[in-house]
Amino acid sequence: MAKKFKRHTISAALPYANGPVHIGHLAGVYVPADIYVRYLRNKGEDVAFVCGSDEHGVAIELRARKEGKTPQEVVDFYHDKIKSSFEKFGISFNIYHRTSAKLHHETASEFFEKLYKDGKFTETTSEQFYDEKEKQFLADRYIKGTCPNCSFSEAYGDQCENCGTTLSPSELINPKSMLSGEAPIMKETKHWYFPLDQYEPWLKQWILEDHKEWKANVYGQCKSWIDNGLKPRPMTRDLSWGIPVPVEGAEGKVLYVWFDAPIGYISATREWAKQEGKNWEDYWKSDDTRLLHFIGKDNIVFHCITFPALLKAEGSYIVPENVPANEFLNLENNKISTSRNWAVWLHEYLEEFPDKQDVLRYVLTANAPETSDNDFTWKDFQTRNNSELVAIFGNFVNRAVVLTHKYFDGKVPDANNLQPIDQEVITELKTIPKKIEVALDQFKFREALRSMMELARIGNKYLADTEPWKLIKEDETRVGTILNVALQISANLSILCEPFLPFTSKKLVGVLNMDVKNWAEAGNVDLLSNSHQLNPAELLFEKIEDKVVETQVNKLLETKKMNEEENNAPELMPLKDEIVFDDFVKMDLRVGEIKTAEKVEKSNKLLKFTVDIGHETRTILSGVSKFFSPEEMIGKKVVVMANLAPRKMMGTESQGMLLFAENADGKLVPVSPGDGSENGAVIA
Ligand code: MF3
Ligand code: ZN
Repeated sequence: MAKKFKRHTISAALPYANGPVHIGHLAGVYVPADIYVRYLRNKGEDVAFVCGSDEHGVAIELRARKEGKTPQEVVDFYHDKIKSSFEKFGISFNIYHRTSAKLHHETASEFFEKLYKDGKFTETTSEQFYDEKEKQFLADRYIKGTCPNCSFSEAYGDQCENCGTTLSPSELINPKSMLSGEAPIMKETKHWYFPLDQYEPWLKQWILEDHKEWKANVYGQCKSWIDNGLKPRPMTRDLSWGIPVPVEGAEGKVLYVWFDAPIGYISATREWAKQEGKNWEDYWKSDDTRLLHFIGKDNIVFHCITFPALLKAEGSYIVPENVPANEFLNLENNKISTSRNWAVWLHEYLEEFPDKQDVLRYVLTANAPETSDNDFTWKDFQTRNNSELVAIFGNFVNRAVVLTHKYFDGKVPDANNLQPIDQEVITELKTIPKKIEVALDQFKFREALRSMMELARIGNKYLADTEPWKLIKEDETRVGTILNVALQISANLSILCEPFLPFTSKKLVGVLNMDVKNWAEAGNVDLLSNSHQLNPAELLFEKIEDKVVETQVNKLLETKKMNEEENNAPELMPLKDEIVFDDFVKMDLRVGEIKTAEKVEKSNKLLKFTVDIGHETRTILSGVSKFFSPEEMIGKKVVVMANLAPRKMMGTESQGMLLFAENADGKLVPVSPGDGSENGAVIA
């Protein structure tokens, strides 16, 4: 932390209240945020850690319609469920608020009104689909029709789920309103746009120049958004579920969910401050407050560009100091998906693994998707529990405590006459808190956790090396010294593990019968005074057996089977970020014809093709050998990416790329340029 801040406002993304939370949420946002907050609190810092449910938006309205409930009923149900899962995992929010609360509606309305009065919006009228029968404008998701690309008859107004094409509702053939089933008409509607383009110079300076220290994944996404040019964005919608637009002539319109949701951080802080008798404005409008947003990567643009620009436009707010966004966590090599039930749900985990919240916190941190997407597997969960938490941390502490009970009636023995080996571990111990701090200050949670575990390893090794159980007969004083050092290490662990493993820390503090210490005391070896009485030993962690993990894996296999039976289509990849036309025309796509095809020796993936692209014949390698035999490819017309820089693979230079798409069975099929197209013809 370069500047000295007086207090911290720390937000964690508001989850949509239309489904329960899963391990992906925890790993990406809530565990790292909680670790960071606990660490700050242990250092005595003033922190407001705010979160809540995101309860507006089309998705929630649609879900309610499907279930025959009101949107409020839907969000009430999930709000309680989500809130309780977070509590049980020890996510230590100061407040878990919700955006359907009155105070939130007021806060968001006032914010909008202020911008409106200050002339920060532009009003634009455009034509949009309207359902005459239901007397309602239709969000893109509320329109279905035939896809112009693949003729799928159930395509949505924003995307065809069959072929993946992004659509706008006007492209649909035979569009139908999902509300009445009737063909919608086009009707003029007015919306309030926030001219993001006007904030481009400020954003450039503030992010690209002044915040080069942001995580590379975050900085990179911001840069590409800014480089591609920002556009005015509508901040209102024609919907009924949401916060009414507080402006005359805006009847039947609500604030865009991404306008009101981040303001949820502000309203949550207001509610908390009210309860605590604090001044909320200190946490949002004071330069000596440090604002941080913990989010997942799909939220980056809203937290780094839109919301800060809105705060800036309002004029009285601070903007975030950092936005430590994570990438995504996958589950057993597949994208986590709520609709396909491909997830480990927190409420289920809590039932199936009672009192093992810290194990999941540990595994999700050790394996956090910090710099790239990462995978959660049950096998890894078991290994990390058994060979790290049980075999190192738990084993060490347990030995120290049990031996103290056995030899010294549970009273901390004196440390007399320290030997070099004792001095060495004490020296090492003293380096650990700083290592954790440096890592946490840079939001490197995996590294911080590793350093904490290093201390457990040091302790474990120390006992293995000194073997006090062998010395007890001949040299009780020496054994006393060793156990004293081991117990001081354990006491240090209770402080240093608290941000990561709060339940374990509490247990350990109980066993050691010590007062809870704060971070500043870590590194000391007199945390437990001589003759201090310990409580009976308690196992901190227990082994997870193979059959427990097998049950979980089988559960997922079941899910997979059900999904396959229900729906043969492979999971759609999310759409990529927008590019500009210039990016597109850089690609030289050509019609080619496969002349020869053969297997590449020693590779079980690659096929080697020679492809006639009109001007010349290219050698191209593709990792498709499990999908085709070389023979069946010969003579096929293909699409060739002709100006891709050559790449050497298995000793052969590949001069371009062939385009393939996945079919319903997950098998690749060549993209075909169509009958009669000529070798070398440009595809555009
Ligand atoms: N509900 C959004 C999501 O799950 C996140 C909202 S974050 C906030 O992607 F800033 F808008 F609150
Ligand atoms: Zn389609």
